[in-house]
Amino acid sequence: MVETRAFPDGESLVRVEGPFRHAVVYRSLNDPGLHDPNTRLVEALLAASALRDQGAERLILVAPYLSYLRQDTAFRPGEAVSQKVVGRLIAEAFDGVVSVDPHLHRTRRLADIFPGVDAVAVSAAPALASLVRQDGFDKDTILIGPDQESRSQVAAVAAILGLEWEAAEKVRRGDRAVTVRLPAATNCKGRPVILVDDVISTGTTLMECARLLREKGAARIEALAVHALYAPDREDAFRAAGIAQVRCTDSLAHPAGRAPLAGLLAEAVKLILGGSGADRAPP
Ligand code: R5P
Repeated sequence: MVETRAFPDGESLVRVEGPFRHAVVYRSLNDPGLHDPNTRLVEALLAASALRDQGAERLILVAPYLSYLRQDTAFRPGEAVSQKVVGRLIAEAFDGVVSVDPHLHRTRRLADIFPGVDAVAVSAAPALASLVRQDGFDKDTILIGPDQESRSQVAAVAAILGLEWEAAEKVRRGDRAVTVRLPAATNCKGRPVILVDDVISTGTTLMECARLLREKGAARIEALAVHALYAPDREDAFRAAGIAQVRCTDSLAHPAGRAPLAGLLAEAVKLILGGSGADRAPP
């Protein structure tokens, strides 16, 4: 168990009681409600240092949600590429990293973010598909990804469930402003639709997709996502936008986090411990 506390000025204190030879640090590097990636990152780095001081020779970070990956380029001149900076810090502290559907777009492989580290990117598709199957679904359901970056994810869930899928086009105009274009051929009139995305952050993307799907006559709109970053009280806004239910994995401690990742994460840790963890990417 890693004990953490905040000093009155907001600095983090971390303590571990060893000794340890091998340790797995399990912590998503953000909390629901869109906070607090900075604190979680510093705590993880301090925990690694304390564990090394307690004798740990091998340290694996299991961070189902890894923050700072979305800033994978300088979108405007002068911006820091946070993914690169944070990647280096984590790579210096840990020997292995496991994460779930990390934001890999311009950087293709998790191992490219963490130089010299055994890195495993787990796909949440089996966990999300099992949840949908367990709850029951209509065979006429169409799965829709809100942007081109969601293609592999929505395709993976659709393949498991044997459902039709499409991916929309999205242009981000600001933190809470997006323009989405559904494929012209999308035929969702009178059919149930499940939106599939990696992260629900402010929920803007989801609600804009729901607006367009309502216009196209979707019979019922739901959402499925890997990481529930949004504040739980956003659910009312989602329902008002016509989204009947939102289901996510338990990568963060969130009421929508109903698809358990434990089995998939354990397999990934076993891969690393067995020496075949490096450089794995999701399907
Ligand atoms: C973007 O690249 C991600 O896949 C999500 O679509 C995005 O992070 C969702 O953000 P928001 O909920 O704020 O629209």
